[in-house]
Amino acid sequence: MGAQVASKSKKTRTVKSTNTSKKAKSNNQSNRQTIYQRRFRRHFDELKWLYTELYNNKSMFAELCEMMEQYYRERNDKLKALDRKREKDPNWYKRNDMLGMMLYIDNFGGTIKGVQEKLDYIQRANVNYVHLMPFLDTVDGESDGGYAVKDFRKVRPDLGTMEDLDEFTATCHRKHINVCMDFVMNHTSSQHEWAVKAKQGDGEYMSRYFFYDNPEIPRRFDETVPQVFPTTAPGNFTYLPELNHWVMTSFYPYQWDLNYHNPRVFNEMIYNFLYLVNQGIDVMRLDAVPYIWKEIGTDCRNLQQVHTLVRMMRIISEIVCPGVLLLGEVVMEPVKVAPYFGTTEKPECHMLYNVTTMATTWNSVATRDVRLLKQQLDTVNSLPKDYVFLNYLRCHDDLGWGLDYWTLSNWGMTEFSHKHYLNDYFQGKTARSNSRGELYNDDETTGDARFCGTTASMCGVERAGFEHNGKMMDEAIQQDLMLHAYMFMQSGIPVIYSGDEVGQVNDYTYKQDPRKCDDSRYLHRGHFRWDLAEKIDEAGTVENRLFEGLNQLETLRKREKAFVSTADTWTVETYDASVLCIGRYYDNDKIFGIFNFSEQPKTAWIHEDDGDYRDLLTGQVTRAEAVKLEPYGFKLMKWIR
Ligand code: GLC
Repeated sequence: MGAQVASKSKKTRTVKSTNTSKKAKSNNQSNRQTIYQRRFRRHFDELKWLYTELYNNKSMFAELCEMMEQYYRERNDKLKALDRKREKDPNWYKRNDMLGMMLYIDNFGGTIKGVQEKLDYIQRANVNYVHLMPFLDTVDGESDGGYAVKDFRKVRPDLGTMEDLDEFTATCHRKHINVCMDFVMNHTSSQHEWAVKAKQGDGEYMSRYFFYDNPEIPRRFDETVPQVFPTTAPGNFTYLPELNHWVMTSFYPYQWDLNYHNPRVFNEMIYNFLYLVNQGIDVMRLDAVPYIWKEIGTDCRNLQQVHTLVRMMRIISEIVCPGVLLLGEVVMEPVKVAPYFGTTEKPECHMLYNVTTMATTWNSVATRDVRLLKQQLDTVNSLPKDYVFLNYLRCHDDLGWGLDYWTLSNWGMTEFSHKHYLNDYFQGKTARSNSRGELYNDDETTGDARFCGTTASMCGVERAGFEHNGKMMDEAIQQDLMLHAYMFMQSGIPVIYSGDEVGQVNDYTYKQDPRKCDDSRYLHRGHFRWDLAEKIDEAGTVENRLFEGLNQLETLRKREKAFVSTADTWTVETYDASVLCIGRYYDNDKIFGIFNFSEQPKTAWIHEDDGDYRDLLTGQVTRAEAVKLEPYGFKLMKWIR
């Protein structure tokens, strides 16, 4: 009997404790529900207002709200906890330890699992933000490097599965690495389910794209819409003989522009977005975002409705997944870029690419003249400190010469001939150039062209290696390191293009691949050279000098608080056109970075008479005046209070 009582009471205890845990669980759930409701209520009016303004469709809006809640419910607890943590610390991504790397899964590790196995290398490179280049299902040979998505919910089979992605992001989070992916929202592949149905003449799906049964409207669009790929994919429309229709294709003919005038498109794309962020993505790169709204008679770029759409995306993420950042790919002139940050009350993107600064940097490399760069940095530095830019030297795309030609013309340079000069310089055709690379979309009618090549090749590593020229190699490495040091001095998040950390040069094998040979961007999209990475510990090798040089700079950047994104940043006159000086100040710490963009020894004629400075690389204590620099030399000097 006694035993029975004991066992009964034990049973009661278990029942009780199950009840308590059930109760705790349901409390937890309702608590979370409240969190969701609170976020939802905070943003509801504005979201409804914007949606109504654009679509005036109550039932679609109701569906959107319902689905948002569903995706919230499906979001796993770890991600929800991370969301709450980041909500409490909204500046989490503005820290000075943030360092990105962008890489192609197949080039780097073969598969997602393969990349996961290489996370130690990524961490050794001080990287805590990995941008996985497009990996969703696409059509081989018609993929535009993955930017023509066939299925937004399927990983390209040769790279892995959604489960692999989920596991990858969870592993990254355990290692405090953020994961970025592309959200290709302007278009789908012509093999996407919607496009296939549209091709069969299904009106519902045709209305998700821009279809015309005669060339008149396409012709009118073409009058005002510039071309993205004038040589490799001319025109903005593609004729489909099987349907006798024209479809809008701003990029390649197999990339069909989505029609965001149709609320079904917006809703469905948001569901895809939420599905993907629920796989543990931290940063969503909004690919080609300025193009997503089209109006006849305009250039179909940066229209007001684009901002309404992006603002809605921001609101939706703040409600469902506030830990996720939006990174806008706005490859436009500065006045068009900054509006994508939105306003303090109504923010849009969290981060944007510092594209003009990047292009202007290479202009300084070719001309040994930093005046335009200084002016460009002054423009960026005058923007609110809350704006976070993604800084980079090279990425997977071509390098377009979007410079401030108005200023250059005041200095006697014309756009056409200056672009020619830059392209000649980087192809290694001019004096004082050791660069190697190729043109991209060389447009015979306009004479315009962009450029392709890796950082190392553009700095002379390729030529020096080929010619076994030690002195040239020293100079190339020095220039490469100087450019990285200068990039780290800018405000925002620096992103390294995978391979740059070991000085990987151009890969010409794309010419043998019929699927790639027309697109010279593959020149700098080669397989990651693990044989080079193996040499990073071999003292004196090119790989070791670059990797360790970068490591030293990255460690410094992490250590010194003046590198936080919100620090004061300004440029200083050096009285030498080849020498750039950038100052940073934060919480009583002050650092100057001085960079020599020429192969001549130089003196930076600065004069800071506030005491001693410590050279952060050598430890030497000096004054910050008349600073001597080696060819392509640089100094980072910290004020000793
Ligand atoms: C972006 C990508 C580019 C691609 C284009 C079309 O600009 O960076 O590689 O070709 O979008 O999706």
